[in-house]
Amino acid sequence: MQIRWDQQYAQRTSRMSSSAIRELLKLTELPDVISFAGGLPAPEVFPVEKISAISQRLLQEAGPQALQYSATEGYRPLRELLAQAASQDGAPVTVDNVLITSGSQQGLDLLGKVLVDEGDTLLAESPTYMGALQAWAPYGASYVTLPSDDDGLVLDDLEAVLQKRPKFIYILPNFQNPSGRTLSLARRQYLIEATTRYGIPIVEDDAYARLRFEGDQLPSLISLVVQQSSDDTGYTGHVIHLGTFSKILSPGIRLGWIIAPAQLISKLVQAKQGTDLHTPTLTQMLAYEMVRAGHVEEHIPLIRNVYRTRRDAMLAALSEHFPADVTWTHPQGGMFLWATLPEEMDSSKILEEAVQEKVAFVPGVAFHPCGGGENTMRLNFSNASPEKIHEGITRLGQVLSRQKSAAR
Ligand SMILES: Cc1ncc(COP(=O)(O)O)c(C=O)c1O
Repeated sequence: MQIRWDQQYAQRTSRMSSSAIRELLKLTELPDVISFAGGLPAPEVFPVEKISAISQRLLQEAGPQALQYSATEGYRPLRELLAQAASQDGAPVTVDNVLITSGSQQGLDLLGKVLVDEGDTLLAESPTYMGALQAWAPYGASYVTLPSDDDGLVLDDLEAVLQKRPKFIYILPNFQNPSGRTLSLARRQYLIEATTRYGIPIVEDDAYARLRFEGDQLPSLISLVVQQSSDDTGYTGHVIHLGTFSKILSPGIRLGWIIAPAQLISKLVQAKQGTDLHTPTLTQMLAYEMVRAGHVEEHIPLIRNVYRTRRDAMLAALSEHFPADVTWTHPQGGMFLWATLPEEMDSSKILEEAVQEKVAFVPGVAFHPCGGGENTMRLNFSNASPEKIHEGITRLGQVLSRQKSAAR
């Protein structure tokens, strides 16, 4: 007898929907489409030769260890190194506060597994990272959102929301995905002060912090926490910090980390054991050797230069080819910018026509957990060359102008 798999699925899978947008985005992967839709780093900046040389040496010198099972918490020297870096940034982090994850996406999933009960309300930015919404949907998260402007999350209504005690706040303080916006220092300080007063945790997803190519670096939220008490397990604050090697080394090695109080790390370790036992030993040792040899630090300026050039190419092309009543953000780093069309325009419809013209982006609705954003779009500038960016934005500008005159 044929099995009807859809009748076998667990109830939570009903919340894992694949949207019309996702179906449309599959078309953007066709080879001749200029895609501003993905969130891919530029492959040209991967340090392939250094990774190759270090991998070879690693396998020669410590092959059996690199190929063996290892601790769920992660490769200790790498955890120590990340703890040191966080401490230098101002948070009193020890090795017990660090869990290595298989990408920060796994960090999001593990936090959902450990913290989110069906019906829990989370406070998120609007727009916010779609991957977090996907990670937490099966656990039954619901959302309350606050809007953002050029200084990041707008906090005017924060206290009113905190009084309703959301389970935690999810925030991307630097060059946010999708908007490219950065939370100002004053708002960081107020956010930490208010959440400390109310005792509401913050999940700080800081995937892009190192990709600043303009302006001054701002302190991370975790570094602004004033510890109420300290013990020999180090950091005890209310900010959970997520980091990743995906944007500064390579996303294919699937390596991220969580910094959190040791008690929470122990629970996350139990959750991770059920998921994948541990993150691959080989890539953890590789990342450790790359950082220790200084290859990651010396590589970051190259990434920043390439992305700055591409952002500038996109900003210039937008000014030249987009209709005058479209606005967009001017990110000081990261990989994305965010365009807002006139109210009456629908970016999902525009995508349908854009794909015919072989250019793509992600419609803004996908990033709004409570609806809205129909007239917005996310544009990725890290993955296409400046020439392709110019060509793609020209085509997109033509589609926008056509749709505007058809609507008149
Ligand atoms: C804000 C944010 N968080 C998490 C991730 C997941 O990254 P990874 O799992 O590669 O570390 C991404 C990827 O684009 C992201 O933009």
